[in-house]
Amino acid sequence: MEPQRLDKLLSGTGRWSRREVKLLVKQGRVLADGRPAPSADAKYDPETVRLTVDGETLRLRAHTWVMMNKPAGVLSATEDGRGRTVLDLLPPELQKLELFPVGRLDKDTEGLLLLTDDGQTAHRLLSPKYHVDKVYFARVEGQVDGEDCRAFEQGMTLGDGTVCRPAGLKPLPAEHGCLVTLREGRFHQVKRMLAARGKPVVYLKRLSMGKLPLDPALDPGQFRLLTQAELAMLTDSFPTARQMFNF
Ligand code: URA
Repeated sequence: MEPQRLDKLLSGTGRWSRREVKLLVKQGRVLADGRPAPSADAKYDPETVRLTVDGETLRLRAHTWVMMNKPAGVLSATEDGRGRTVLDLLPPELQKLELFPVGRLDKDTEGLLLLTDDGQTAHRLLSPKYHVDKVYFARVEGQVDGEDCRAFEQGMTLGDGTVCRPAGLKPLPAEHGCLVTLREGRFHQVKRMLAARGKPVVYLKRLSMGKLPLDPALDPGQFRLLTQAELAMLTDSFPTARQMFNF
């Protein structure tokens, strides 16, 4: 794994700010593989280095990943003068980590929202180039039908000229709704695609991103850290170079 700055590694545990790490290092309280760390910007491989603070060995995570069941009524932005954001739902030790939401859900949309400080993986999850499916449950006015499914499959052009890539649509009559699968994330995309078919959305929830489903034990507004196995599920969702470039 890429070497990372000591202040990033230690603040990533959620226990100290970067400024506090600087002070700990200056006071000689941080040892890297048994030797005092020379400075807060010294770099170490998080997979192999053994870091201690005041003799306590730290468990390091190169990045932090939080799974949240976003409730309706909260903005998925890092800051917004207009209301509460998903970051306001996190405790102070996680708020310190400068996490950002991986893509946006509308204020009234619920469901799976990931928050992280891992910009590279976040980008891959969102980019249409990497073919990561996002699945939504939508309840609409009326009922989606076979023609709607075919329109989604072919790739729709919306009224304002936005060209949508082919998407999945599956009616779920028993649940009075449907499943929508997208590989891109345009502004209000599910709502706009269904509205363009004359089926306005009345309720929307994201169920999964790639191979990672929303933990059904999380009520709206609840969150937890991703497990290592779940992180692997996320990165497993990316196609291999062979699949991407057909060689
Ligand atoms: N599509 C929408 O219309 N809204 C969301 O929040 C996510 C996808």
